[in-house]
Amino acid sequence: MPSLISVIKSLKKTKSELHEDINAVFDRDPAARNQIEVLLTYPGIQALLLHRAANGLWNHNQKSLARGVSYGSRMLTGIEIHPAAKIGKRFFIDHGMGVVIGETAEIGDDVTLYQGVTLGGVSLDKGKRHPTLEDGVVVGAGAKVLGPFTVGKNAKIGSNAVVVKAVPENATMVGSAARMITKAKPKEEKSQDSQHQDLEKAFNAYGIDLDLQDDKKDPVANAFATMLEHIQESEARIDELQKVICKLDPDYCEKEIKKLSADQLNVLK
Ligand SMILES: CC(C)(COP(=O)(O)OP(=O)(O)OC[C@H]1O[C@@H](n2cnc3c(N)ncnc32)[C@H](O)[C@@H]1OP(=O)(O)O)[C@@H](O)C(=O)NCCC(=O)NCCS
Repeated sequence: MPSLISVIKSLKKTKSELHEDINAVFDRDPAARNQIEVLLTYPGIQALLLHRAANGLWNHNQKSLARGVSYGSRMLTGIEIHPAAKIGKRFFIDHGMGVVIGETAEIGDDVTLYQGVTLGGVSLDKGKRHPTLEDGVVVGAGAKVLGPFTVGKNAKIGSNAVVVKAVPENATMVGSAARMITKAKPKEEKSQDSQHQDLEKAFNAYGIDLDLQDDKKDPVANAFATMLEHIQESEARIDELQKVICKLDPDYCEKEIKKLSADQLNVLK
């Protein structure tokens, strides 16, 4: 059984680490005003600090105590994080109420969750059954990420999406079951420090990336638009062919041929 001192030592976060967790709130919530206010009134930061304590206890085999801290945190914040869940640096849960993070979930650095997010399982296996969120992932309000797969770096999960399969890096997923609406170009590999500085500058609240305006069309809508363009082009070609045929065989033009037009498709209106 570890000594109390070693438990306390492991629970004691360095001043800079604590600052990093709190500063993440300022980087991502324009409404945040000062550190005291953030500590006292942000359930996301309270849940994170209590989870760091619960996780330390869990790792020192103080499982019941860890569960107790986690339960207390849930009562205080409405956020339920299993003490065994692995959470990286500068994690931020905005608003918080209704967030559930399962036992085998793994969360990288600079990840953001909004209220009502579940990182859950879909099996009763004892092993890995919750998702892994890589660095920089943003999960929108009410989204459910279910199963032991990986959501790649900087991916965005839209609000209320239900994600049941692995998500590539930089993708944006919406819907239930979620479909991809963006597969952005990967960003250049950078040092960890400069990555963090970039994140501070580049974090876009609510997962909206203004740099990706051209890339982010729904692929299904795109496919429909392309098909309609092809239909209109084909009709124009048929009209041309009919004119030529009429010149060669004037009788052909006497026949009544129903003219087709893409305008007849109501979906265009
Ligand atoms: C997913 C998200 C990041 C996409 O943002 P975006 O890249 O700016 O995408 P757009 O708004 O241009 O939408 C692109 C398409 O996806 C659809 N879409 C966007 N978000 C969606 C969502 N959550 N669910 C279903 N469809 C969605 C849009 O209707 C649009 O479809 P269309 O091309 O057929 O018109 C963003 O919509 C989102 O859900 N962010 C989370 C916000 C949040 O949780 N806020 C909580 C604050 S308390």
